[in-house]
Amino acid sequence: MAKKVLITGGAGFIGSNYVHYYVQQHPKDEVIVLDKLTYAGNLDNIAGLIKERKVTFVEGDIADQDFINKLFGREQFHTVINFAAETHVDRSIIDPHIFVHTNVMGTHNLLLASRDNEVKRYHQISTDEVYGDLGTGSKNYFTESTPINPNCPYAASKAAADLLVMSYYETYKMPITISRCSNNYGPYQFPEKLIPFFFKLASENKPLPVYGDGLNVRDWLYVLDHCSAIDLIVSSTKYGEVYNIGGHNEYTNLEITKHILRFLGKDENLITFVEDRKAHDRRYAMDPAKIERELGWAPSVTFDQGIKKTFDWYVENAAWSAKLTDRSHKALLSTKMEACKVPQKTTR
Ligand code: NAD
Ligand code: DAU
Repeated sequence: MAKKVLITGGAGFIGSNYVHYYVQQHPKDEVIVLDKLTYAGNLDNIAGLIKERKVTFVEGDIADQDFINKLFGREQFHTVINFAAETHVDRSIIDPHIFVHTNVMGTHNLLLASRDNEVKRYHQISTDEVYGDLGTGSKNYFTESTPINPNCPYAASKAAADLLVMSYYETYKMPITISRCSNNYGPYQFPEKLIPFFFKLASENKPLPVYGDGLNVRDWLYVLDHCSAIDLIVSSTKYGEVYNIGGHNEYTNLEITKHILRFLGKDENLITFVEDRKAHDRRYAMDPAKIERELGWAPSVTFDQGIKKTFDWYVENAAWSAKLTDRSHKALLSTKMEACKVPQKTTR
């Protein structure tokens, strides 16, 4: 049966990739994309789908309770998938307030409206960062039973949202699920996050501000493999469950940086070690065994395949990235370029 589906944050990086994926997988469903179009939201990402009337776009704020209640009162959503969030850790260190406002209050507004309007499936997009830091010296992984232990305001706001979602399952028996994914890369990622940011800087022969010693480890997943995992979860009959998503692709930031430089044929002297990020988690690594076992999920590409597709996309879509000139992004960029003028010594 055709469903009416609300996808929030669908003009952002992962959300827009998911909107494309969803429309392809479920052509009969009615898709409504809700997005506030912050600096990170870009309607160009889904403009073709809007033009072809494959999705309907609504501009709005999940943290505006009145607006959310009216929207849910007007539309009878079967499924709600919440990608909308403030997502950049560096920004959460500078200005945590908006992270609590959007990620906690916004999620709660969606939960309340979903409960009151008897939504049949609420899915929350969460992150591995809620688990905190695996540290060095061990080869353990985050599992779904790893205690929540976030370190930066972004991660804490996402953890708070997860706890609210879980409480709605326990208290109101709401049909919820939560997925926690590792670091994504791929098309449409705003060039403030490590891979698109360093790709753009290196292309322009600018210094690459590597935090600390560059040996922090992240577990990278191609964005469409995240999308396929979410789709399996929302299409399943599982409720009240958390699923970890990750592809066992652990790399240090320095390895990623050198990979970008090699692809672009640039010199490693662009690497500039700068002061470390505050509360910088040393290592994230996901154990995706549960989603593999229960839902048969597997990534479709290796890291080498996914990153090649991504770099090719950046080259072919340089104009897409050049258009993103938000004022707050320029300010952050300029702070980072200033930091590069006082490089830190590392003890590698
Ligand atoms: P993004 O920053 O690229 O996009 C976020 C989107 O949400 C933007 O379109 C923005 O306009 C919208 N938005 C922000 N505040 C809003 C509000 N108050 N109301 C409505 N819309 C609002 O983020 P992303 O990287 O695509 O992340 C999407 C989700 O996935 C987030 O919940 C994030 O926590 C989670 N996640 C991201 C990663 C990653 O590596 N990027 C990994 C795991 C989980
Ligand atoms: O792990 C999932 C999370 O991944 C998501 O929940 C977040 O929304 C997403 O932003 C991302 O968080 P990270 O902090 O891991 O991503 P970021 O791209 O900001 O940084 C990746 C690593 O690179 C991290 O160790 C910090 C480092 N870094 C990043 C930037 C932007 C630098 O050394 N220099 C930089 O300028």
